[in-house]
Amino acid sequence: MTALTTPTPASASASAAATPATLTAMTVLPSGKTYEVPVGTSLLQALLAVGEAIVSKCGGKAQCESCHVFVTAGRKSLSKIQRAENEKLDGMVGVSSQSRLACQALLGSEPVTVQLLSST
Ligand code: FES
Repeated sequence: MTALTTPTPASASASAAATPATLTAMTVLPSGKTYEVPVGTSLLQALLAVGEAIVSKCGGKAQCESCHVFVTAGRKSLSKIQRAENEKLDGMVGVSSQSRLACQALLGSEPVTVQLLSST
């Protein structure tokens, strides 16, 4: 007697079309937790999605400074700083060479480490 072929747990054809997202690692300080997050999303979106405490007062429009973070590793993997972000960073206090606005920095394929700052 031959049994039917073993079905796969989920219909591969149904779920394959959903999201071909590539993931990368995002380590968040000071918690030290590392998450797998989709390449191409902003740091802000990724941080909010995993439940890290970050503020976004302007809704991600590079206008409020509340999402300022330090990227301590993997900076080159992020999207380049565009004009709006650069202009905002120029006018901010406490900026360093590691500074990014999380709403403007898109994740690349290399792992990143993000230092959250205490903002209100
Ligand atoms: S959320 Fe306002 S500048 Fe990024």
